[in-house]
Amino acid sequence: MLTILGIESSCDDTAAAVVQGTPGQARVLSSEVFTQTAIHADFGGVVPEIAARAHVEKLDVVIAQALSRAGVALAELDGIAVTAGPGLIGGVLSGVMCAKGLSAATGLPLVGVNHLAGHALTPRLTDGIGFPYLMLLVSGGHCQFLLVRGHADYTRVGGTIDDAPGEAFDKIARLLGLPQPGGPAIELCAAQGDASAVPLPRPLLDRAGCDMSFSGLKTAVLRARNAAVAAHGGLRAVDQANLATAFQLAISDILAEKSRRALAAHPVTAFAVAGGVAANGQIRQALQAVCTTLDTEFMAPPLALCTDNGAMIAYAGLERLAHGEYDDLTLSARPRWPLDATSPAMLGSGKKGAKA
Ligand code: KG4
Ligand code: ZN
Repeated sequence: MLTILGIESSCDDTAAAVVQGTPGQARVLSSEVFTQTAIHADFGGVVPEIAARAHVEKLDVVIAQALSRAGVALAELDGIAVTAGPGLIGGVLSGVMCAKGLSAATGLPLVGVNHLAGHALTPRLTDGIGFPYLMLLVSGGHCQFLLVRGHADYTRVGGTIDDAPGEAFDKIARLLGLPQPGGPAIELCAAQGDASAVPLPRPLLDRAGCDMSFSGLKTAVLRARNAAVAAHGGLRAVDQANLATAFQLAISDILAEKSRRALAAHPVTAFAVAGGVAANGQIRQALQAVCTTLDTEFMAPPLALCTDNGAMIAYAGLERLAHGEYDDLTLSARPRWPLDATSPAMLGSGKKGAKA
């Protein structure tokens, strides 16, 4: 049994957690997240330099909290796992330097973790799911289908060719005058609207395969909003709600249809979703429905483990360490780090934070 501290600082959440167990059978002893949302609110997006500085200020605090909530002393740990990429370089560096300091001071193994592997292995932490499984990773910085065959064996079988869906949610929220982060704000607003009032396209559904595109959808919402503003001299609440509802439905339709195709092309017994956008109720429901018709088990981690957190990093580190894999003090921070190095780089694959 291993007890691992996980540190995450690749975007706008400073997080630390303690996870204990073995591969496929682990539990979260503590998981602390300090979110920088309020710090970046005035800027309409994450400012990398401000994020890095805030990580430096908060890392030791969240780590101390995670250890104390878990009731575990530093000396009782078996390893220190840290996100070594992909992400905003300043933030990733802050975490890696902090983890190196802890490792040097304690002599504990340092385990560099790919942030995407953290998301992709989460269903093994929450449900003990076995390999292989298909994963839809869908967040503010990434959107891809991954065939997960082992803790270090990932094949990307499709993904976005431009924006990530979370990025689209955030931009559309701004366009509709809703607060950031856009996903939860749009979901709330969408509960009041009528999707049929605003016909929107479903880009790339006419093309075979599992690749997706969200940038044309964004332009279509912009046009529909401008038309509504021109017709009524401003954005009425009813138009705001209809636009939010239609946009959410379009994203949900695209993700569901492409998931159906990914599962048809790569039949596995379980389909899992992770990343911030997986918190969306309508999207979860649509994916669940696809799995029900294909007789595939559907897994969505609890919301707190869908968005960025330290537990997923601790768990991915646990899987590496259990296989005898760890790093030394030469571990470097990587702003770009595709999980599947064999597949060609995608055009955009989510621009926020220069993810994989
Ligand atoms: O995984 P995450 O915490 O951070 C990374 O991007 O790595 O995901 C954050 C993204 C944001 O773009 C946010 O708007 C989106 O996830 N999000 C949602 C919801 N909650 C968060 N999108 C749609 N519906 C939600 N309920
Ligand atoms: Zn993430």
